Amino acid sequence: MRVLLLGSGGREHAIAWKIAQSSMLEQLFIAPGNAGTRNHGTNVAIQPTDFDTIKNFVLENDIHVVVVGPEDPLVKGIYDFFKNDAQISHIAVIGPSKYAAQLEGSKDFAKKFMQRHNIPTAKYATFTKDTLEEGYAFLASMKAPYVLKADGLAAGKGVLILDSLQEAKTELKAMLADAKFGDASSSVVIEQFLKGIELSVFVITDGDSYKILPEAKDYKRIGEGDTGLNTGGMGAVSPVTFADKTFMDKIENQIIIPTVKGLKAENIEYKGFIFFGLIAVKGEPYVIEYNCRMGDPETEVVMPRIKSDILDLFEGVATNTLSERDIQFDQRAATTVMMVSGGYPEDYEKGKPIYGLNAVNDSIVFHAGTTSDGPAVLSAGGRVLAVTSYGKTIDLALSKSYNTISNIDFEDAYYRKDIGFDLMNYSK
Ligand code: AMP
Ligand code: GLY
Repeated sequence: MRVLLLGSGGREHAIAWKIAQSSMLEQLFIAPGNAGTRNHGTNVAIQPTDFDTIKNFVLENDIHVVVVGPEDPLVKGIYDFFKNDAQISHIAVIGPSKYAAQLEGSKDFAKKFMQRHNIPTAKYATFTKDTLEEGYAFLASMKAPYVLKADGLAAGKGVLILDSLQEAKTELKAMLADAKFGDASSSVVIEQFLKGIELSVFVITDGDSYKILPEAKDYKRIGEGDTGLNTGGMGAVSPVTFADKTFMDKIENQIIIPTVKGLKAENIEYKGFIFFGLIAVKGEPYVIEYNCRMGDPETEVVMPRIKSDILDLFEGVATNTLSERDIQFDQRAATTVMMVSGGYPEDYEKGKPIYGLNAVNDSIVFHAGTTSDGPAVLSAGGRVLAVTSYGKTIDLALSKSYNTISNIDFEDAYYRKDIGFDLMNYSK
C-alpha cells in the first residue's frame, strides 16, 4: 500500500511509526511531517489543507490511502474533495465526510445529533447575537459554574468555564456581539456543568461496524495538579484504571452504538476515527465532545497499545470490511509525557537544539513540534516531544518516561511531573 499521512504533530509521528510496522506498506509519505516522521517515511512539504497540491501529489505518486491526522482538512471537506473528483475518487480517505466532521466543527450540530439519538450529554441551549437576551435569561436559570462554548473550531480555546453569573454574561456578550472567537463564536452553546473525571475513548469505523481502540486519559493543563492554562495536552496514559468492563460496556451501549447507528441512519458518511471526549459522573458516562480524528497526545499511547496491523484496519475501513478484521491490544500500560517549550501555552521560543535523542533506548520519543537542520533536531513548537514508554503498570511506564526525559535536554524545557496522578487512588 502506498500511503499519504497528513499532519505534523506527535499524533502523526505515532501514526507514522505504527504504519511503518505494517507488512502491507509499500511506501509512506507524510505531509508535512516533522523531524521524527522522517525516520518512518518521506516528508513532503505540503500543508494538509492545500487540497489541490495534495491531489497532484497523490496522482504523481500513485497513493492508495490518505490518512488524515488533524481536524482542519476534515472540517474543510477533504473527504468530499476526493469523493467528488473522478481522477482521485478511487483513493481512500481515512476520515469523515465534511458533513460528519461537524460533530467536531459545530458544538450545536453535535448536541443536536446526541439529542436525536438519546446519547447522554449535558443539558444545553444555543444562542446567537439575536437571542443574547434569552441567553442571559438561560444563564440566570442555571447554577454556577457556567459553561460557554463557541460553536465552531477555535483552536481549543473556545470553551469558557466561569464561576460568576456576571462574568458569564459578560463573556457571552463578548463571544456573540464582539466576535471574541471570530466566526466560531457567532453561535454559543451554554451547557450544564458536569462534575466528574474525564477520559477519551476512540473507535475506528467504516460506517457500518466499528472497533474500539484502547482508551486513554490526557492531561490538558500546564500546571501540576491540573492547574493553570489549558494546553494541547501535557501527557496521557492508557489504560484508564477506572474504565472497567462495566463502565466500558455502558460507553459502548449508550454512546458508541447509538453514534455509529445514528450516523448510518441519517446517511452521514463516516469512515475514520471517532474520538469521544467523555466524563464519568457517579459511574455514568456523558459525552463532553466529539472529535472527528484521533486525540493528541492520546494517540502517542493508543498506537503503541494496538498490536494489529493498522493498514489492515484502514483497508477494512476503505472496503467496508472492518467487521472481518481483527484487533488485538498490547496488555502493557503505555504512558507519554510531553516536553514543552518554556512559556507555553503563552509566548515561547523555538529553534532550540535538542540533545540526547540518539541515546534513548527505553522509551519511544514521538516528535510533536520539531524540525531538522541536517542531522540536528530543533524545537519548532510549544509541544516539542512526547516521551512514551511501556510498563506492566502505569507507574512503571511513567518512571521509564521520566527517566528518559532526564537524559533529553533543550533550553527551557518544561514537563509535568505528575501525569497519571489522579488515577492512582481514584474510586468511583
Ligand atoms: P471541549 O472543548 O468541549 O472538550 O471542552 C474543553 C474542556 O472543558 C473539557 O475537556 C472539559 O474539561 C471542560 N468541559 C467542557 N464541557 C463541560 C461540561 N459540560 N461540564 C464540565 N466541564 C466541561
Ligand atoms: N487531547 C485532546 C485533543 O486531541 O483534542
